[in-house]
Amino acid sequence: MKKILFASLLLAGSSAFPALAQQLDPNVAEARQVIKQFFSQLKGELQKAMKEGGPVHAISVCNEKAPKIADKISADTGWYVARTSLKYRAPTNSPLPWEKKVLKEFEARKAAGEEVQKIDYKDVVEEDGKKVFRYMKAIPTGKICLKCHGGKEVAPEVEAKLHELYPGDKARGFKVGDIRGAFVLKKTL
Ligand code: HEC
Repeated sequence: MKKILFASLLLAGSSAFPALAQQLDPNVAEARQVIKQFFSQLKGELQKAMKEGGPVHAISVCNEKAPKIADKISADTGWYVARTSLKYRAPTNSPLPWEKKVLKEFEARKAAGEEVQKIDYKDVVEEDGKKVFRYMKAIPTGKICLKCHGGKEVAPEVEAKLHELYPGDKARGFKVGDIRGAFVLKKTL
């Protein structure tokens, strides 16, 4: 499904003046709007589920609803939306080689002092003969995330449920402020 041809690389200029280039790029503005939609829906569902039935119940919401929300937003907006991470939980979210490279750059940028909230990446590549705009945005880890992505904050019953659903789970041991992963967006130009 994730078939990608790597052809052209970074748009000239975008790395020299990231803030300026992004301000002027309508694709970035649009991608950020789509991310806002995606994130607020995810967070809304998560908070609702946590309130209703605690984190064990909320796991199934993330498990079932996250991909559905992504599909619905893709259908509504025409953007491909997904989440990925260097330390991923669901194998379906494992990063592609280009995503992995960007995620590693994100870690380096954070280490160099950049604010996680502001870390993002864009480029334009050719896929199957078409120009495709790609965008990634770092997702910061908040306190609520630790219930399922933290260390000792993860309750034993949550641990058991996660182990059952995701035997190869890597998305653990995060702290507040860490880069939990990234949104990945793509649109054919
Ligand atoms: C109730 C437990 C729970 C909480 C709380 C939670 N997550 Fe998750 N998270 C999951 C599950 C389960 C998955 C796997 C979803 C799937 O199967 O697609 C996941 C997947 C992810 C992914 C996709 C990459 C991967 O590891 O598969 C990201 C990014 C992510 N979560 C970020 C967050 C952030 C940020 C927060 C806090 C705002 C958060 N999560 C809170 C359970 C949780």
